[in-house]
Amino acid sequence: MTGRTSQSETTESKVELIKQSSNGLRGTIVEELSNGLPNFSGESEQLLKFHGIYNQDNRDTRADRKRAGLDIEHICMIRLAIPGGRLLPEQYLAADKLAEAFGNRTLRVTTRQGIQFHFVTKQNVKALIRKVNEVLLSTYAGCGDVVRNVTACPSPAPEIELLKLGELANQISKRYKPASAAYYEIWLDGENITASQATGSGGQDEPLYGASYLPRKFKIGLTTTLDNCIDVLSCDLALAIDERDPDMIHVLVGGGLGRSHSDDTTMPLLAKPLTSVPREKLFQIIDAVISIQRDHGNRADRSHARFKYLVEEWGVDRLRGEVEKRTGLQLQKLHHMEFPNSCDHLGWIEQSENRLAYGIKVPSGRIADTAGGAYRTAIRELVAKFNLSVRFTAKEDVILTQIPVIARSEIIATLKSFGIKLVEEYTGISRSAFACPALPTCGLALTESERFLPTFLESFNQLLDGLTLSHLDIEIRMTGCPNGCARPYLGEIGLVGRSKRSYDIYLCADRAGNRLGKIYAADVATEGLVDALEPIVLLYAAHAHDGEEFGDFCHRWGIDNLKPFAPEPRRRNIAVAQGV
Ligand code: HEM
Ligand code: SF4
Repeated sequence: MTGRTSQSETTESKVELIKQSSNGLRGTIVEELSNGLPNFSGESEQLLKFHGIYNQDNRDTRADRKRAGLDIEHICMIRLAIPGGRLLPEQYLAADKLAEAFGNRTLRVTTRQGIQFHFVTKQNVKALIRKVNEVLLSTYAGCGDVVRNVTACPSPAPEIELLKLGELANQISKRYKPASAAYYEIWLDGENITASQATGSGGQDEPLYGASYLPRKFKIGLTTTLDNCIDVLSCDLALAIDERDPDMIHVLVGGGLGRSHSDDTTMPLLAKPLTSVPREKLFQIIDAVISIQRDHGNRADRSHARFKYLVEEWGVDRLRGEVEKRTGLQLQKLHHMEFPNSCDHLGWIEQSENRLAYGIKVPSGRIADTAGGAYRTAIRELVAKFNLSVRFTAKEDVILTQIPVIARSEIIATLKSFGIKLVEEYTGISRSAFACPALPTCGLALTESERFLPTFLESFNQLLDGLTLSHLDIEIRMTGCPNGCARPYLGEIGLVGRSKRSYDIYLCADRAGNRLGKIYAADVATEGLVDALEPIVLLYAAHAHDGEEFGDFCHRWGIDNLKPFAPEPRRRNIAVAQGV
């Protein structure tokens, strides 16, 4: 039982009322677009999420502006929903151009295979969204209480391509886009440019969602039984195509990672096995699952509104029974599901006799031109020159696909000439690490993440070097708050922002995304993080079995046997709350 759930509260949250009275996600967005103010109102802020827009402010300038008596620096973040993270060359090049024209000259690859434009001003939002739609992309349902961007394993390997994940991700995405025409009216002056491509019907009614949409965001991920690179079990609805019987899809339910430091009844949970169904029945099952969350999810308390809490409350058997009732299908039980692997899809991958793909490590998904490498220019030039399609991984990296075999050395030479580190030049820990954006744009960030990760990795690499352990391969994930956008509870080392200058450390998750981490140390000062990890690294080096991965080692050793090595929390109340 996970605390407060659907039945125990009756008053609907404020966001529910905003959705209901929004006239199909319209609200007053149109009026506010031309009111001359630099930001949208609080109510519109909620509705804008459904359109793929977050109202934010530049937190780096907050203090100075306050001292100068100025309002905060209002900015918007615009998120592209890209099913399965797959872009055609012209779509990638258009996104690159838009980052230059309307953003902060960076494209931010997200952990759900989308792209974010940061630092977009309110006056540029409409132009940006129109341009996005002109290349048949969309921001609709990039955020909001609906089915979000559908993730899918991006592997370009021929045996995975045969399973057509991209196609299925597109179908799912299209089916569950909101049907309201609000998006087209507001941003495209009524033209439904993408209707036949990536979005829903564009009608006025919401046949599936209803006027209140879902209680909370709903994430669907699609992979194969071979590879869990997208951390599919972190999704509300996890789908895995059986590689031995590609017509069969395994369905798991109730994953979600977000939690709150101040509420012990919130927690990360992994999706649990529900059933296995043939492809032709899949949409019946998804429709039913979504409708159950729509009807029974918690609409009173948003911190308990994710589907995972309903699944915890009901149990999987009751849920399966309800799906059977709603579909009229007899469902078989799926008993167990464990993924063997989580591939990073970096480096060279053979697509066919004369085509290759190349996965580029992009530190924390920030496609930018910086002193550390001109990622944006290099990728743009290669995509344009060789007409390459692009895929984003759920670990925030970029795969260039359909590279002619003869261009192999030119690709490498170009990357090098732009100062980009090749995959094999990374240490194990730097290759796999990634972070959420956090400061300065994310309003929920308690501390740094993307900007601090390189400093942390440098110290951690130094530690390993000093111990002659630089060959160790440990996956590290960092976030600026417990919402967990970089899925830290599934990293072998998860660093979760606790306060302005401290993090909680999680250990024991496995590399393939089958097991969540557990808290090892709470509220560790930023400058003490590496020291806090040193004893565990030494223990691993001394006692790991042959080939045993770090997360598996920590799990075998047991968190209770690791905790004595942890530093004292900085604050006593946190020690008590976490049982450290
Ligand atoms: C713009 C700032 C952002 C805000 C305000 C935000 C908000 C949140 C919140 C509140 C949660 C917890 C949800 C819950 O448990 O119900 C969450 C989880 C998550 N977000 Fe974000 N997010 C932001 C940016 C991002 C970015 C940039 C990514 C991808 C790089 C991302 C991907 C995820 C993922 C993967 C999770 C964890 C899995 C889950 O619980 O579904 N978010 N986010
Ligand atoms: S994990 Fe927290 S700090 Fe990081 S992007 Fe998500 S909400 Fe913001």
